[in-house]
Amino acid sequence: MTVRALVTGASSGLGEQFARLLAAEGYQIHLVGRDSARLAAVGQVCGELSGEPAVMSRVDLDEEESLYGFCRRVAADPPDFLVNCAGIARAPLFWEDSDKAQRELLTVNYFAPNCLIRAVLPALMAKGEGDILNVASVDGLVPGDPDMGYAASKAALVSLTRSLSIQLAGTGVRVSATCPGFVPTRIHETAGLGKVTLPWFLWRSADTVAADALRRHRRGQVVNVPSASYRAIYRAYRLVPARWSAAVVRAFHSGSIEQPTGVPADGRGGTPVRP
Ligand SMILES: NC(=O)c1ccc[n+]([C@@H]2O[C@H](COP(=O)([O-])OP(=O)(O)OC[C@H]3O[C@@H](n4cnc5c(N)ncnc54)[C@H](OP(=O)(O)O)[C@@H]3O)[C@@H](O)[C@H]2O)c1
Repeated sequence: MTVRALVTGASSGLGEQFARLLAAEGYQIHLVGRDSARLAAVGQVCGELSGEPAVMSRVDLDEEESLYGFCRRVAADPPDFLVNCAGIARAPLFWEDSDKAQRELLTVNYFAPNCLIRAVLPALMAKGEGDILNVASVDGLVPGDPDMGYAASKAALVSLTRSLSIQLAGTGVRVSATCPGFVPTRIHETAGLGKVTLPWFLWRSADTVAADALRRHRRGQVVNVPSASYRAIYRAYRLVPARWSAAVVRAFHSGSIEQPTGVPADGRGGTPVRP
């Protein structure tokens, strides 16, 4: 019997790596994104890895009709494994950003996963098995990132995942939120952020993060941090008094990103930003 995985944000970065890994396990992959050319290229690889042709859907998760229409189609024919990976970040100062942009941030990073989870859950619960993996961020666990709307959207996703894991206990449906630190993908440049200047040990490649997140999901780690450096930071953050941890988080963020470069005219990124 064919098992199927739906991966949003599959046209690049972490989503592409989740799609490749699940394809190599034999899942037929349903790739979701907006960039048709990138989707086709990833779909080709996934088809070869899986032996089953990939399905591709060009969906703008920020567009109401597009999102709702897609969720209706997913509910009618749900996958066995849902990976909510699509996400965006914002470069402008939080208090100078537009309502439209902050709303888009919340829609793509939190509301779209929320909708897709509700689209697949009834079928997975009826079947008594299934997987939902949400890609959050360490920013959703440790507050203080200057991209505050992003951090809040990821914290909401973590909170939803925690509640789901409690409510779904005993149903056979596994749910997790993975909370990576910095990964060299297009997201920083697409957001218009400047060069991220962090030491090498605070970066981890997209393929290793995705593999680690999948392993931790299957081990039942509901909220996990797929990087030793960021696990140490998160532990320290929880152990030290709030007054000190706030100072450390402020220092960490103050030097990590150079001045924003401004959002590219087409709103899309090009080459990955690397340390
Ligand atoms: N990179 C990091 O440092 C880092 C750290 C922690 C967490 N994360 C999270 O990891 C996830 C993947 O990001 P990434 O780093 O791999 O960045 P990425 O390479 O820029 O990938 C983002 C993906 O989201 C999709 N997407 C964005 N807006 C969309 C929309 N309106 N409708 C449909 N799809 C949309 C993009 O698809 P199209 O280009 O085809 O539209 C793309 O496939 C995000 O949720 C991000 O928050 C990243």
